[in-house]
Amino acid sequence: MTPALPSPASPSVSPELAERLQRGLTSVDALLRSVVDHEDPFIAHASAHLAEAGGKRFRPMLTLLAAELGSGINDEVVAAATGVELTHLASLYHDDVMDEADLRRGVSSANAAYGNSSAILIGDLLFGKASELVAGLGPEAVRIQAQTFVRLCSGQIRDDRPAPAGVDPIDYYLGVLADKTGVLIATAARYGAMFSGCSPEAVDIMRRYGERLGVAFQLADDLLDISSGSGESGKRPGTDLREGVATLPVLLARQSVDPSDDRLKVLLDSDLHDDALHAEALALLQAHPAMGEARDRTNDVAREAQELLAPLAIGLAPGSPAMESITALADLVEGVVNRVG
Ligand code: IPE
Ligand code: IPE
Ligand code: MG
Ligand code: MG
Ligand code: MG
Repeated sequence: MTPALPSPASPSVSPELAERLQRGLTSVDALLRSVVDHEDPFIAHASAHLAEAGGKRFRPMLTLLAAELGSGINDEVVAAATGVELTHLASLYHDDVMDEADLRRGVSSANAAYGNSSAILIGDLLFGKASELVAGLGPEAVRIQAQTFVRLCSGQIRDDRPAPAGVDPIDYYLGVLADKTGVLIATAARYGAMFSGCSPEAVDIMRRYGERLGVAFQLADDLLDISSGSGESGKRPGTDLREGVATLPVLLARQSVDPSDDRLKVLLDSDLHDDALHAEALALLQAHPAMGEARDRTNDVAREAQELLAPLAIGLAPGSPAMESITALADLVEGVVNRVG
């Protein structure tokens, strides 16, 4: 479990900053490993299953990078970053049950390996561990963690349900994304600024930046589910389509009035657990202009995230650590929307 610096960070990062982030990630990893341990060997094994399998460590890396805006990485920042990754891990255990996914981080999902009941309960246990860790950071951190998880769960619940009558499906979808994914990424960025002594204004900018970044992250994830080859993401592509999760390309394709889209629209309304129908729908969608449109919308959200950073740079000396962090945070957005896994 030695984490590499997540690729989204790279282009603008000096060797000194890369070294600080790498050291921070190593500390996060050590804390994560100790927190998921348990006296019962089965629980220890099942709790460590996804943490050991790797993952990008994108959220803790964001917390560490946000801390560079203030006084830098310290023990509280590391604990906060670990609490966020634990919360993320808990949500992955639960998400794979919901999505009937059998592959995660290049290994069997926990539900495939241990069954649904264990996967759900290990997810709950990891959330408990996250809360215990965050409790050491004070009541404000706990309140943020609790509110974050409420929103994450409400996003996941609504992800599984159609848009209510009278609500635009794309607006509904974007709201779900902000809740199920945006809020935890927002909290990752917010904690980094909070525990490195940034001003309340800077903390709030990081929260808003993180939420937009998170929506862009999920929009990119939804595109990858359609366009990526198996093996690139460590997950099974086409899962959203099979499970009937209507992502932006699907919602846009459904709006088409072009008769050449009739077959795709019929398929999108069918049970795509059938392999042949699923393959046909995936191929039609991959070649559909809705993919380009969804990519443009993703880039728009990414730009909104970058624009939020502008006030942080006012009055900063070029080359200062805070300025370097802002540049890296802006590049991180590019990395997120252009990633392949
Ligand atoms: C997966 O998150 C869940 C989503 C919000 C799309 P990541 O893509 O960050 O997964 P890991 O942590 O790298 O496995
Ligand atoms: C899940 O979205 C978001 C959360 C885990 C909260 P997805 O269902 O698209 O995530 P993946 O693709 O399985 O990682
Ligand atoms: Mg999923
Ligand atoms: Mg899901
Ligand atoms: Mg996905």
